[in-house]
Amino acid sequence: MKLTVVGGGSTYTPELVDGFARLRDTLPVEELVLVDPAADRLEPVGALARRIFAKQGHQGRITTTSDLDAGVDGADAVLLQLRVGGQAAREQDETWPLECGCVGQETTGAGGLAKALRTVPVVLDIAERVRRTNPGAWIIDFTNPVGIVTRALLQAGHKAIGLCNVAIGLQRKFAALLGVAPADLHLDHVGLNHLTWETAVRRGGPEGADALPELLAAHGEAIAADLRLPRPLLDRLGVVPSYYLRYFYAHDEVVRELRTKPSRAAEVAAMERELLAMYADPALDEKPELLAKRGGAYYSEAAVDLAAALLGGAGSPYQVVNTLNNGTLPFLPADAVIEVQAAVGPKGAAPLPVAPVDPLYAGLMASVTAYEDLALAAALHGGRDRVFRALLAHPLVGQYAYAETLTDRLIAHNREHLAWA
Ligand code: G6P
Ligand code: MN
Repeated sequence: MKLTVVGGGSTYTPELVDGFARLRDTLPVEELVLVDPAADRLEPVGALARRIFAKQGHQGRITTTSDLDAGVDGADAVLLQLRVGGQAAREQDETWPLECGCVGQETTGAGGLAKALRTVPVVLDIAERVRRTNPGAWIIDFTNPVGIVTRALLQAGHKAIGLCNVAIGLQRKFAALLGVAPADLHLDHVGLNHLTWETAVRRGGPEGADALPELLAAHGEAIAADLRLPRPLLDRLGVVPSYYLRYFYAHDEVVRELRTKPSRAAEVAAMERELLAMYADPALDEKPELLAKRGGAYYSEAAVDLAAALLGGAGSPYQVVNTLNNGTLPFLPADAVIEVQAAVGPKGAAPLPVAPVDPLYAGLMASVTAYEDLALAAALHGGRDRVFRALLAHPLVGQYAYAETLTDRLIAHNREHLAWA
């Protein structure tokens, strides 16, 4: 089996490689190709990746290249994990929205729109080249904003699935709290990427008994503390929102916090410098502890599980993925991309039926879906008015005066990445 990682020079790659090494029985990788235009990162990351394989006795071959076409040739799956504009662009996304009192975040709100506008054309170009060289390959998209990027890929007819680590992270957390193995818990996970709720935590599988009431009663405090939301809110909802819901449920509080501390981009950039220095040390042969401070915990396990199921290996039969709605959530358009449990196999993902969704969540999902639709139109066709429409539709922006100002700021800060601006 051959896998290609586009954005393979990312400091995250050792997490992925460690997962491939540990989980080789689930996913036997014979060849791993790391593709990246940044040679200064690709070489140290590739060398560490080889040391990690060697240390764990993995026989797979790891190669590096800046040539995308050569890199995807013959791959069974292509993982996309890139960041157009790097942490510097992220830093912008996290700061200028704050000037209007709006949340500054890389996937949520105005910053997320900026990221979508920079990213969609680049990802579509890569996917087109994958299709030309290797039409059979699966595209697994980790590139944010995953919902909008996956929708762009599917609309263009690509063989693509979007993936995020929020669900697998919560599954692991809940399993630890309940003292069971993660594989024994099935989360009823519903929503859009970075806008999801766990509405049940089932023991054994999709038909299992729901342990969520028991989990909240015994561990509500710890779960609320992790989400940085008040426990009484969780008790009243009776479901567990993802931590991205804090940007909605505690918006003004988050804005106040963000205004007084360094951006996450700055923190991550500092960590990346430190990580790259560590990777350059030939004595390092495992993923460093410091990587655990990044948000991507468990993403390698999600990737292994999904690739294994898609490629006919031993992956879990049900997985949380981003895929076409197609009536699963009847209050959303059929061509929306949703993040839900799905049966996954070589033919792709088929969402499991979802119990009727409380209007408390359905309403937000519907408005963010409308925003995503408008965001994709802006990313594909450009133009100030399309950017304005997406921002006006976003529930965290909404007012025309903010939408006007944020449109101007977004364009000004991203001109070099926007072909039409
Ligand atoms: C989580 C999200 C990812 C996001 C990451 C950010 O893992 O699911 O989509 O990229 O957090 O983590 P960072 O360490 O870059 O802030
Ligand atoms: Mn994510």
